[in-house]
Amino acid sequence: AAALSAPLSTLGFAAVGKSLMDTVTVADGYQTQVLYALGDPLTASTPAYKNDGTDTDFDKRAGDHHDGMEWFGLDANGKPSASSTQRALLAINHEATTDEKLSSFFLHANGGTSKLPRPASEVDKELAIHGVSVVEIEAKGSQWAYKAGSPFNRRVTTMTEVLVHGPAKGSEHLVTKFSPDGTRARGTLNNCGTGKTPWNTFVSGEENWSGYFYRDAKDDDRRGKKSPQVLGLDRYGRKAGAASRHGWESAGAGDAYVRWNNGALASDAKSDYRNEMNTFGYVVEMDAYNSRLAVRKRTGLGRFAHESVSFAKPVPGQPIVAYMGDDSRGEYMYKFVSAAKWDAADAHSANPLDVGDKYLDKGTLYAASFKADGTGQWLELSMANPIVAANPDFAFKSDADIAIFTRLAADAVNATKMDRPEWGGVNPRTGDFYMTLTNNSNRTVDGEMGVDAANPRTYTDLKAGKEQKGNVNGHIIRVAQANPADTKFTWDIYLFASEADADKTRVNLSNLTDDNDLSAPDGLVFSPSTGVCWIQTDDGAMTDKTNCMLLAAIPGKVGDGSSKTLTYKRGDGSEKRVDTPMGKAQSADILKRFLVGPVNCEITGLCESPDGRAMFINIQHPGELTPMADIGNPAKYTSHWPANAGYGAGQRPRSATIVITKKDGGVIGS
Ligand code: FEO
Ligand code: CA
Ligand code: CA
Ligand code: CA
Repeated sequence: AAALSAPLSTLGFAAVGKSLMDTVTVADGYQTQVLYALGDPLTASTPAYKNDGTDTDFDKRAGDHHDGMEWFGLDANGKPSASSTQRALLAINHEATTDEKLSSFFLHANGGTSKLPRPASEVDKELAIHGVSVVEIEAKGSQWAYKAGSPFNRRVTTMTEVLVHGPAKGSEHLVTKFSPDGTRARGTLNNCGTGKTPWNTFVSGEENWSGYFYRDAKDDDRRGKKSPQVLGLDRYGRKAGAASRHGWESAGAGDAYVRWNNGALASDAKSDYRNEMNTFGYVVEMDAYNSRLAVRKRTGLGRFAHESVSFAKPVPGQPIVAYMGDDSRGEYMYKFVSAAKWDAADAHSANPLDVGDKYLDKGTLYAASFKADGTGQWLELSMANPIVAANPDFAFKSDADIAIFTRLAADAVNATKMDRPEWGGVNPRTGDFYMTLTNNSNRTVDGEMGVDAANPRTYTDLKAGKEQKGNVNGHIIRVAQANPADTKFTWDIYLFASEADADKTRVNLSNLTDDNDLSAPDGLVFSPSTGVCWIQTDDGAMTDKTNCMLLAAIPGKVGDGSSKTLTYKRGDGSEKRVDTPMGKAQSADILKRFLVGPVNCEITGLCESPDGRAMFINIQHPGELTPMADIGNPAKYTSHWPANAGYGAGQRPRSATIVITKKDGGVIGS
């Protein structure tokens, strides 16, 4: 386990109540400040954000839907510093944008165009608000501010040239008109969770990218229903004929738009964008300190709806181990084990992206299989595994194919279908790996996604005797291994999310109360200084009672509780029983609500200054349920945050980074 500089064994604040107010409510004794919101200028010459739909130049402004975020310290001379607490770069994902009927309506003066074709002037803004920001921040006393003119500031968008690294580099499936040799690509998209490597670079997961693409209804026939291209497009959610999220492909004949149409075939793959979708779905790595270096797509970590990347504590002479989740209903949990063994000198390299090449471009990918007895196995996804190599459903020819069509390889080994794996985190006290499983409306009592030990809950109305709705509130699973590189593990369920008043034998299994009930855990970050496990929610099931929230937890370890049996009654009167290993019940001294966000937001992303005295989180998509038709009528906006907190012009709600400090200057959570 890692050394913590300010370990906390108790949570020193009083729990925050549930709230529907359009404000950030934080525990007594703490204060919050808005730091960096959608549209904020990143260069000295970019005009202030008017926030009325007329702003442009989004490649020089903060993007939308702030999500995962990491801290990179700077000393007084602007050099990387592991100890600086007053000045830093924040690397921030801009996942998506608030939209309805194709249009990102808060970005456009009249709400934008909700039918095809979309105007290029609107699409150009939407292309630029996705991606990543790097932004410099500094404290003056207890007040923090970002620096609009900092030379470190950077935007990576859907249009930025990036490099393909790892086994898929040069693959026939990555050949496009933009990169006929399949070694380069354009942009990063739907960046969701993050991670920080042991060599001090930023990694970011590309999550729900597939919905941004289009192919017409005849595309299956043109390419052949059993062709690897069509099998891949289908498995990653792009059925022929389905509309794209924003209709970007409709905005004109330029490559910036045509690339979103997978079905517009020319003579060969070098002349069109049939493979463009295969260039998304990776973990990307960048050096937050050096904006001149291109982003690298780390294909060795597999292709799926990537959320975060959490690294086990690196041990000299042992491989680097990274855990990842695929956030979709019934998808898998993954682990990457590097071929190279850790050399502690690499932690301080002047060329950290080359260190990334060393550890992330060669290694072995695994998917998790959970057994009912509380053990499990990481199943190898490579051509060395005969089950993958001889898979009858998809003919893998190489490890490059496995890196690109990873889900199909995990299907082949029969990994466990999970309830939407979101963020992961490694507990610095124990080394246990935690992963949120946010919810799964498709979980049923029986069938392909029938309840199992690792995903044991589905909502059942016992009186009616009929099963419905699936796993409504989600849970958090955790895994222990003697050595992070081991293929065998033990596991339990750390926490079942639930409303406090739900049935304690079937739903509220972790004994939650009004001080700590929650739904849809999503973000999960262990503080590197205090060891507190911060849990963030992205909920729809409990939003009649409270906006989304941030909770603090002091978890124990795998195996600290006992097994529970859940019994489901089928329509015909028969019973299905599921035994599940679960951690000890929770109480408010080890799990409590710390903060509640404004209306319609998700709370996500979390990083700290290294002394644990300033914590940064993101308020994502406040006001997202505002009807597009009400643009121009601020009285109808469901949220006015952050303008109603005194930040910025206009009344349209904006995603933003906030900083939280303790009024007495103490450690957050103490
Ligand atoms: Fe982007 Fe799975 O949340
Ligand atoms: Ca998420
Ligand atoms: Ca979510
Ligand atoms: Ca969201």
